[in-house]
Amino acid sequence: MESGGKKIKIPDHVAIIMDGNGRWAQLRGLPRLAGHREGVKRAREAVEFSYRNGIKYLTLFAFSTENWQRPREEVEGIIQLLREYLRKELPDLKENRVKLKVIGDLTPLPEEVRREIETAEEELKEGDRLTLIVAFSYGGRQEIIRAVKKIVSECKNGTVQNISEEYFRKFLFAPEIPDPDLLIRTGGEQRISNFLLFQIAYTELYFTKTLWPDFTSEEFKRAIEDYSRRERRFGRVGKGK
Ligand code: IPE
Ligand code: IPE
Ligand code: MG
Repeated sequence: MESGGKKIKIPDHVAIIMDGNGRWAQLRGLPRLAGHREGVKRAREAVEFSYRNGIKYLTLFAFSTENWQRPREEVEGIIQLLREYLRKELPDLKENRVKLKVIGDLTPLPEEVRREIETAEEELKEGDRLTLIVAFSYGGRQEIIRAVKKIVSECKNGTVQNISEEYFRKFLFAPEIPDPDLLIRTGGEQRISNFLLFQIAYTELYFTKTLWPDFTSEEFKRAIEDYSRRERRFGRVGKGK
């Protein structure tokens, strides 16, 4: 990707908090679900933008553990949209060598939906161009607690020697995925809302007021350009100091 004739640095892993669907709909006098429906179109666009520009991992926050507290109709509508997305996009994702991984606590989902997710993951497992990680019924704190519980039970077996950072990571939902380089949040709020708490320790943050249904490829490119200008120091002394 180029910007003003100059090559720009592409992050390997981009994570997005896709926020603002409800407000987008409200501004148009539409039901909230219409905003989520439009949001799915932008998710599709973001996936395409990612594999076309050499992003290797894209994590989309689609539904949080806290979002279960929304009205039943909205929750069911969002689940339905996930199912439609998986069904309709599968051939296209496969053709473009996209791998799929869904992270989160899927136990509250109907058995049928869980099966559909598994089938889609299985169908796309050979994908080697982009890994699409969909965070659904996901909470960062819940993920950490789940890891701790797993480690405690390993301890009971007496096999654990040293709980290092590296060892801890093995118990996250997707241990093989590197930490995000860039986290984008649309919709104007400047908070994490229980997204990838452990993984974003050194992630660059980008907040935009643009509501998710308005977040086109142009906007995505702007975020990447912004990222490209940053100096990541990871606690060390910067260049030229
Ligand atoms: C983000 O949009 C999508 C989900 C949380 C499922 P919102 O539905 O939170 O939209 P706003 O923040 O109310 O505008
Ligand atoms: C975060 O958005 C979750 C998703 C985008 C899926 P929310 O709308 O749920 O977050 P808060 O309530 O503004 O913190
Ligand atoms: Mg919101």
